[in-house]
Amino acid sequence: MKNLLKCKPLTKSVFIGIVFFAICLVLASFSPKQSEWKAPESAKNIKNPIPANAVSLAAGKTIYIKECLQCHGKNGLGNGPKSADLDKAPESFNTPKVKNQTDGELFWKIKEGRKPMPSTKKSLTDEQRWQVVNYIRTLGK
Ligand code: HEC
Repeated sequence: MKNLLKCKPLTKSVFIGIVFFAICLVLASFSPKQSEWKAPESAKNIKNPIPANAVSLAAGKTIYIKECLQCHGKNGLGNGPKSADLDKAPESFNTPKVKNQTDGELFWKIKEGRKPMPSTKKSLTDEQRWQVVNYIRTLGK
């Protein structure tokens, strides 16, 4: 600090400019722009206990139509009737980004939700969430 006080006024204002810029960068990183949605490592390896058979897929479809279709669309492309009203439209399930996630990761996201997507902690059981995971895997194929 002592050295800084001895600096020429120009050097000082450059220094203040740099500090100001750094503060702006920090503030920008706190802005509401959302980063990529990642499920925690622990969710990744959770095994899907429900086989993707006709019974679970039919159950998953019923849940999907009632709880998810309005945003995610009939074919999971993210173009449901309500999607246009959302701040952020959902992406298609038929992308490598979603396909490369494990059932456990999708299960976790469906359970937790992230604005504007609602959490299903209260509306669905674990079994129903796995059924809907099985069903969305069939979409967009
Ligand atoms: C109100 C609209 C809405 C509803 C209802 C909704 N979602 Fe979403 N969903 C979204 C949005 C928006 C995103 C993207 C969120 C983000 O990336 O922050 C999303 C993301 C997802 C993802 C993560 C995709 C990825 O990129 O990793 C999955 C899986 C998903 N939704 C499944 C479902 C299922 C299953 C249901 C029904 C139980 C459902 N959603 C209901 C809006 C909705």
